[in-house]
Amino acid sequence: MKNRFAVILAAGQGTRMKSKLYKVLHPVCGKPMVQHVVEEVTKIGVSQLITVVGHGAEQVKEQLGNTSDFVLQKEQLGTGHAVLQAAPQLEQQDGITIVLYGDTPLITEATMKSLLEHHDHTKAKVTILTAIANDPTGYGRIVRDDLGKVEKIVEHKDANDQELSIQEINTGIYCFDNKALFHALKQVSNDNSQGEYYLPDVVGILKNEGETVSVYQTPSFSETLGVNNRIQLAEAEQIMKERINNYHMLNGVTIIDPHSTYISSNAQIGQDTTIHPGTIIEGETVIGTDCTIGPHTELKNCQIGSQSVIRHSVVHQSEIGNEVNIGPFAHIRPDSLIKDEVKIGNFVEVKKSIIGDGSKASHLSYIGDAEVGKGVNIGCGSITVNYDGQNKYLTKIEDGAFIGCNSNLVAPVTVGERAYVAAGSTITKDVPGSALSIARAQQVNKEQYVNRLRKKK
Ligand code: UD1
Ligand code: CA
Repeated sequence: MKNRFAVILAAGQGTRMKSKLYKVLHPVCGKPMVQHVVEEVTKIGVSQLITVVGHGAEQVKEQLGNTSDFVLQKEQLGTGHAVLQAAPQLEQQDGITIVLYGDTPLITEATMKSLLEHHDHTKAKVTILTAIANDPTGYGRIVRDDLGKVEKIVEHKDANDQELSIQEINTGIYCFDNKALFHALKQVSNDNSQGEYYLPDVVGILKNEGETVSVYQTPSFSETLGVNNRIQLAEAEQIMKERINNYHMLNGVTIIDPHSTYISSNAQIGQDTTIHPGTIIEGETVIGTDCTIGPHTELKNCQIGSQSVIRHSVVHQSEIGNEVNIGPFAHIRPDSLIKDEVKIGNFVEVKKSIIGDGSKASHLSYIGDAEVGKGVNIGCGSITVNYDGQNKYLTKIEDGAFIGCNSNLVAPVTVGERAYVAAGSTITKDVPGSALSIARAQQVNKEQYVNRLRKKK
């Protein structure tokens, strides 16, 4: 195989996004656009991958880490100028260079492979990936001669009326003979409406030098969508979302309403799990088999076992075991570990706590900074009082303990194995195992109290 290089352009500000966040870092299905491009191009196998950074260079580098090499484009003088920044690394090399823009997050490995094959086959110095756009506004147009051969690419802003009517667009993805690319780049001028050095001008330059210029037209325009503004960002999200949902459905996951189901590109879901409408699965979430998730549930960076049910709830950065039942309307906050067969019912909040096998908090509780053993029953309205205004303290509830309704467990405190806490207690001292603790005011009944009041009047 010939040397293969990839250059990804990611130095632009993305003015049309009207955002503090640099364009290529805007996420599509939870992953920055440029990262989608890097990951996809990596799949085809390249000996070196260089990302051109400029605006937000530090953030882009941090995001991509060691998945790419970087060169800096200090001033954004155009896409041709951007590629030229990789000259010190690449100029002397023999091989093929694939160039992509960091704002085309939907491109797939398969299409890139077809492009490369076509490029090899036609022995061209450049092969442009093109597509037919219903609305080509904003894209560079592919200008062909009477025989259908490519002559050049004209940017929308530089196009005449006839050129504007062309629907075949430049996707911004190209294969070049590496040496021909850098040879031609040096001749690109900025004599155009935007005063920029355009990479697409390389096509016309090579053509005029008598080189073979070739086109590979993909039937899938949607895969090549360039994101310049937030309308296109939403379009990309929609297409990627559909792709991800289809992947899971073909893998054996039931998605009741794909339109209202949002699954991050990094999530994994086991077979025969059912996702109900209005569910958002973010980050690196892993869900086992035979689970029921949703409706209206938000999971972020969670590990969930099998046969668990999570309805109308929010679960963040936590681990949930097998056959767990969560919700409706529960909130599991980060660093919680909910073990097997636990029930966390309506209006229960759990934070940074371990809940042991088979334990239950079925209604209206706050469990924070707690270690709850196995088979514990936490009655309705019970609360771990974990914070004194300055520090957080641990509550331990040992195996088989029973916490009566509406109890306060003032941490640090331990309720021993199989101990009972009477309803309405405020527990401030440890409760020994197997004990019954009652910590509430004694009930006093004043007989005939109301009648005596009446007599006085
Ligand atoms: C570009 C193409 C256009 C094509 C379209 C496909 C040019 C001149 N035009 O237009 O033919 O149809 O993409 O989506 O290439 N960038 C840099 N440095 C720069 C300028 C841009 O790194 O100096 C990066 C941007 O961060 C972006 C990419 O290059 O990721 C494309 O730039 P953008 O301004 O979005 O080009 P388009 O106007 O979309
Ligand atoms: Ca663009």
